[in-house]
Amino acid sequence: MKKFFITTAIDYANGSPHLGHAYEKVLTDVIARFRRLMGDEVFFLTGLDEHGQKVQQSARARGIAPQTFVDELAVEFQELCRRLDISNDDFIRTTQERHKAVVRRILQELYDKGGIYKADYKGFYSTRQEQFLQEKDRNEDGSWPEIFGEVTEITETNYFFKLQKYQQWLIDYIRSHDDFIIPRFRQKQVLEFLSEPLNDLCISRPRERLEWGIPLPFDEAFVTYVWFDALLNYYSGVADKPGFWPADFHVIGKDILVPPHAVYWPIMLKAAGLEPPKALLVHGWWSINGAKMSKSTGNFIEPVAFAEQYGVDALRYFLIREMSIGQDSDFSLQQFLNRYNAELANDLGNLVNRTLNMTNRYCGAVVPAAGSAGEPESELKALWEKTRDEVIALNEEFQFHTGLERAFGFIRAINRYAEQRAPWKLAKSEDPADRATLETTLATMAEALRLAVALLEPVMPRAAGRVAELLGASRDGAWRERLAWGDSLAGAKVGKTAILFPRPNVA
Ligand code: ME8
Ligand code: MG
Repeated sequence: MKKFFITTAIDYANGSPHLGHAYEKVLTDVIARFRRLMGDEVFFLTGLDEHGQKVQQSARARGIAPQTFVDELAVEFQELCRRLDISNDDFIRTTQERHKAVVRRILQELYDKGGIYKADYKGFYSTRQEQFLQEKDRNEDGSWPEIFGEVTEITETNYFFKLQKYQQWLIDYIRSHDDFIIPRFRQKQVLEFLSEPLNDLCISRPRERLEWGIPLPFDEAFVTYVWFDALLNYYSGVADKPGFWPADFHVIGKDILVPPHAVYWPIMLKAAGLEPPKALLVHGWWSINGAKMSKSTGNFIEPVAFAEQYGVDALRYFLIREMSIGQDSDFSLQQFLNRYNAELANDLGNLVNRTLNMTNRYCGAVVPAAGSAGEPESELKALWEKTRDEVIALNEEFQFHTGLERAFGFIRAINRYAEQRAPWKLAKSEDPADRATLETTLATMAEALRLAVALLEPVMPRAAGRVAELLGASRDGAWRERLAWGDSLAGAKVGKTAILFPRPNVA
């Protein structure tokens, strides 16, 4: 079995989960589920980034200890995973001892090898971004961009990690590994960043300025810079699982590609004598109703509450159907409802209902044998085989949105097939030939529906499981084999009608 290790970014333990967090987890989950169905041994890691200045400040603002603060949020983020049917195998928290031990070990190794040195540093510091700024970060008029918040000039003794030493290595690595950054167009942005000389990375914060972090093993007067700590979660998460490093994919948003994931992380690993991850899969950002999401303006979707109101599968479907990986996308309730009504309730929901209803009514709730296929059946079967192969190929390329479009094209074709055969008319006939066609039609609809929902398993695991159950379809055996058109449902007892996607109650 091929080992496949995939991660999400670890979210800041600084506020409640939002739609961006939900999307990244759903996307990664779809990939993990797809790889499992394809037969890989998958390890899917997600977690929480719990150290740093912002966490310390937020805890202080609430008047509680940082550990208490992050413990509360960890419950919320784990609940998010559970409620969205995220199939993560582990949930790492950077305050866990297993993680801190790895961070300290790597820091000590790098220090012993001479990869870390102590120096004075004077510069402009952004508290909000927890970073020293450079001249090139200034606006044209010399002021600092708003995203940095308050900027002050400070001098500090700190520890530095030798980044520059590996700059040329990284450039060569990226140039010779065309599939390291996906989608490929983002590679340019990384190489542009690397065209300027890199500064070594300040990886410590004096304890008097920041308490909430992992103490440096070689100088306890300092704690570790939060990015240096956070990135190592990917490695500490599989420290006791041989064979999973290097990661196959780190799924991240576009804002944390440069410099943390594309520059710091591969160089940290290189310096530590570890292999870089195989690829970074970079997704775009969601806006809501055309604007940046923000709790203060009310432009905010609470993912767990939304899933409760409209259904987990519907939310997962929309997120994956609507966003083409790499591009940005907009979330609006109207667009969600359009897809919900047209695609989920009508195309899929009605097909499930009419298939079950007619099988109950005309065939005693037992799927008939297919009998001899005519032209419409052969055409539908051919379309299935084409659709299946295309969707798998698209999934391999992370084109899940197009994959869903194709899958629903097939679902609509099943509905057209039903219209063409009109089993409700055949049922009124006394002619044995019409009876045979009726049975072929219902067998064909059931089989096509079984296959269509099997293809949707990675995106809508709940609905797929429910429909399989209603059709009396077994889900044992390899997925690829289950995707073969056959007569496997003949004799299966089907369930009664079920409303999979009820008309939403919109206030
Ligand atoms: O950056 N749309 O955490 P984070 C889509 N702790 N994705 C979004 C988004 C949006 N509107 N907003 C945020 C951090 N994200 C660090 C990561 S990894 C070692 C440390 C994505 O909570 C964002 O791009 O700010 C990132 O991938 C993830 O949510 C966590 O963001
Ligand atoms: Mg962020």
